Amino acid sequence: MDFFTLMQNRRSVRAYLPKAVDQQRLDAILEAANRAPSAGNLQSYEICVVTRRSALRDLARASLDQAFIAEAPLALIFIANPTRAAAKYGRRGSSLFSIQDATIACTYAQLAATALGLATVWIGAFDESTVRKIIGVTRDSVPVAILPIGYAGEEPEATSRRSLAALVNYMMD
Ligand SMILES: Cc1cc2nc3c(=O)[nH]c(=O)nc-3n(C[C@H](O)[C@H](O)[C@H](O)COP(=O)(O)O)c2cc1C
Repeated sequence: MDFFTLMQNRRSVRAYLPKAVDQQRLDAILEAANRAPSAGNLQSYEICVVTRRSALRDLARASLDQAFIAEAPLALIFIANPTRAAAKYGRRGSSLFSIQDATIACTYAQLAATALGLATVWIGAFDESTVRKIIGVTRDSVPVAILPIGYAGEEPEATSRRSLAALVNYMMD
């Protein structure tokens, strides 16, 4: 599948089959995330790979009870590391670049998973401090996104988008 078709075909999937994701696919997803650009190439984020069933259930509960998270065989959590970015970029590094680094890495992982025939959904609605406790990180770390990954248990329709005319402003001579 070419890249543009892949982006057209990606859907947020909120039901998963009880089928494990093999290590080779997981490694490919993590390698893809690791190719993401980052401010100063500092990669101011970490990734937590969660396959423990009880932790997946806790994450689902911490995410406004989005139970489908616990159906997935695994979830990646992208965690910004503001301190790492601040060392070079100060406040802009801690408040913006580390969040962007984690976000871009999650985007790469989501697209890589799609390319491998896997289903995902980006989860942003969660209680940050509860998620910190579940994965055992301190207040210096900022969980930015949870990405459940598995085999699709549903085939959602494509969602709508604003028109380009509503989104894009040209500045031209
Ligand atoms: C920052 C962010 C937070 C999101 N949080 C959630 C979430 O907590 N739960 C959920 O089911 N979907 C969540 N989504 C997925 C969006 O609902 C979804 O991407 C959007 O409706 C478009 O649908 P599509 O991904 O199928 O194109 C989130 C997406 C983003 C980018």
